[in-house]
Order: sequence, then structure tokens, then C-alpha cells
Amino acid sequence: MDTTRRSLLTALLAGGLNPELLALGLSADGFASDAPELAPFRGLDGEGLDTASAIVEGRLPTALRGRYFRNGPGLMQRADQRYRHWFDGDGFMQAWTLGDGRASHRGRFVQTDKFRAEQQAGRFLLPAFGTAINAERPVRGPDSLNVANTSVLLQGDRLYALWEGGSAHELDPATLATRGVKTWSAELRGMPFSAHPKVEADGTVWNFGTANGRLAVYQIDAAGSVRRHAVLDVGAPAMLHDFVVSQRHLVFLLAPITMDMAAVRAGASMVDAMGWNPAGPTRVLVIDKADFSRQRIFEMPAALVFHFGNAWDDGRMLRLDYVESVPLPQFNVAAEQIMRGQRTAREVSMPRVLEIDLQTGRLRVAARDEAVEFPVVDPRVVAQRHRFVWYPTAVDTGARWGFNGLMRLNIETGARERFSFGADTVVEEHVLVARPGSTKEGEGWLVGMGYDIKRQRSFLSVFDAMALAAGPVARAWLPYWVPYGFHGRFYAT
Ligand SMILES: [Fe+2]
Repeated sequence: MDTTRRSLLTALLAGGLNPELLALGLSADGFASDAPELAPFRGLDGEGLDTASAIVEGRLPTALRGRYFRNGPGLMQRADQRYRHWFDGDGFMQAWTLGDGRASHRGRFVQTDKFRAEQQAGRFLLPAFGTAINAERPVRGPDSLNVANTSVLLQGDRLYALWEGGSAHELDPATLATRGVKTWSAELRGMPFSAHPKVEADGTVWNFGTANGRLAVYQIDAAGSVRRHAVLDVGAPAMLHDFVVSQRHLVFLLAPITMDMAAVRAGASMVDAMGWNPAGPTRVLVIDKADFSRQRIFEMPAALVFHFGNAWDDGRMLRLDYVESVPLPQFNVAAEQIMRGQRTAREVSMPRVLEIDLQTGRLRVAARDEAVEFPVVDPRVVAQRHRFVWYPTAVDTGARWGFNGLMRLNIETGARERFSFGADTVVEEHVLVARPGSTKEGEGWLVGMGYDIKRQRSFLSVFDAMALAAGPVARAWLPYWVPYGFHGRFYAT
């Protein structure tokens, strides 16, 4: 084990049971909520779910054929112990199969080493990102703690469940059975492969991973072979979730997150050891795609960013859009509140467009004030000039938690189109699916999931991506609810 790995291990290791749950006076299962929209945060018990034929409301387009994979934290509690942070939950992979106007659904927990051991023991045995738990099993590296809960990538017959802090887990795309940890090449064994790979129209995959301040960057071809990689000493923060790719550049926003290593060694979770320097800056790292050693750093005011839409550049101007989150510690406070069944403060994340003049070094940020997250773009425009970004959004939700609508924003004109499901629905990420035979950006469907609070059922909804205001063209209803997920991808068949 090299010293980098050992340091990361130290950072991930946490000891000492935290009595905070008991002190909070929660119910026996640690989840006491009178906010019905938070019910899916109770999580599942580790078993799979299947629906051979979902009930379809409206008409699923016959040309919409394929598989929609979606990942998220699915198990939140074992015995009397509950994870504290939304990001801790063990990965629950879902697959919707659409075609001929029909929809079926399958959900399986990713059988990570951690999950299998804990499922057998009936209790948690290892620390999580936001929950200090004594390690009762050997921690040999980040993958000993991997929960595979964040996103997905399909290459041929290989489906990957992705997690920011460790390796991808390979799954069978038909059965969702777990095949094991993915090693891209011998020298990259165990190096984190983050949950937000960018896939260009020709199938080229760009991704990154961070370990102990270093940043690994990957270029992988459509067949799954690593073409190039590098490990860069850039002082990467302890939490770096996403990045963005333009024609010529890889762009990272390195937030001013601090990490109290003494607290980690004393048993604090990663979340509890994290701090925030509001004086900033957030560093903008721009890496030349053709030569990873060519890097530039710009600075902007402190900003916490989880997700990007897309980027493009013409060699002189680099433009990208992202969603600015609430800073730390507020973000983590909210992610812990919902795990206890408590509504969060009304601070929200909002759209931004950043323009960088690569010749003068001047930065300009355009801000909007809609509450959004989980931005997506048309997969045909990744790393190319784009106009449209789609997001879940909140439309007059009042005190209620979560998004209830969808928004399409034209980032060039500022024009937006929205749809609201009203008070009783929580809307999750929706992805853009190109209509077969179409070529124009936005021609296709917006496909994603949501939760009906009154019916206590989850659904898949399908919109005409350029006519959101007309409402969903179809919804496919499950006979059960599933936990709220993070990210998905659609693969046409
Ligand atoms: Fe994400």
C-alpha cells in the first residue's frame, strides 16, 4: 500500500459509536416524520423489487425503446442504527425496460463487499461518509467502504454502479447481478473512478477520481479501454463530485473545503471533519484535453458546486453551466435532517453560467434564482455548444421538501419552460432521450422518476422535452415506492 492510499484510508476510517441519534430522542427506527414527502428516506431492507408490467397512464411513445438505469442510496438503517447522511445509503440500482408502449421495473442492491457482510450480520460493520461506525472488518482501501450508490454507466454488456470515493462496480445489465469491482488497468487498481463520467457523442468517456489531494483523470474509448490517464497534484478538495468537458478542456471547480484530519483520527466522520472557508476562493482548474500537463487555474468567490450541465469553448471563450449549492455546513446539515425525517431550511441551489475569457483570464458569472438541481443536457451536445438544460425545479412548494416540477432553460436567451405536478409529487432527475432519427438538440423525451406523496407510489414520467408545459405524455406506475435516487442514464435498444 502506498502512502497516498494509507492517508486516504486514515481519512475514511472512523471509530467510535456516535450516541447522537439516541440524544435526538427519535423513534425506535431513528426516523420520526410528519412530513409525508420524506417517507422514501426510510429506505428498503436490502431485498430486490420487480414489476413485470407497470400500469401505464397516457401513452408511452412506441419509439421510446430501451433501458433506463438509475442508482441511489437505498438502505438507510440496520438493526437500531440509522445512517446520518443521505449519501451514506447503500446503492440500489433500478432498471426500467421500455418498449411497445409497456414498462417493466427491477431494483437490486449492489452486492458490494460491505453490503454482503452487513446484510449477513444484520447490522453495520463499517464507517460511512457521514456516519462514524466502528470498523469491525478490515479496511484495505476505499473499496472496503464503497457503497456504489451514485450513478451508472453502460458500456456494451457492462453496467457500472458508480461511487465518488472508489472503484466502479460491474453489474449484469439484464439481471442487475453484481459481477465485482472494475479495474480499468493494473496501474489504476483501486483508484477512485467518480460518479460523473462525461460521454461524448463518439463514445469517448472522460472521468476523474480524487485521492489525498491528487486528481486522476481518465480518457476511455467507447470499447472500454483506457486511452490515457494521469494523476495530478492539484490540491483537490476532500469532496469533488462532478466536472465538465468542452471541446478542448476538462474543467473542475475546486471548492474551499477544509478537512480536520485530527478529528478524523479521533473518530469523526468525513462529514463532521469537513469545514468551509467562506473567504474562498473556489479555484477553476482548466486542463488541456490534448495534454494533461497543460493546466491553468483561475479564481472565483467561494462556491459549492455538485453538478454541471455542459461546457463549450471556441479556443478563446470557455462557457459552462452549473448549479450552485448552498455552502457547507448548511448542505450537510440538510442532508442529515432529511435522514431523520425533518424538513430542511428553504435555502436552495440555483443555475449559473460561467464564462471564462482564456486570453484575459476574466471570469463572469450569470446567476438565476430558480430552485433546481440535477441538470441534464442532450447527450448529443456533450462537450459541444448547447442551448438547453433541463432540471427538476420547485414551483410554489411552500414548506414542503423537494422538487415538484421540471424546467427547461435556454442558457443563451434565458427563456424557460416549466411544468408543475402540484403539491403532492416529488420530482427526481429526468434525462434527455433523443428521438430516433432526429438530429436537433432537444428533439426527444425527458424521462425520469417521481414519488406521489398521497398514493405512496413511485412512477416513471415521460415528457416531450421541448413541450414540458403540456405535461407528461405518459406515466408508468409502480405498485410500491422506491427510495429517492441520484442519477440515471437511458440506453436505447
Ligand atoms: Fe451527482
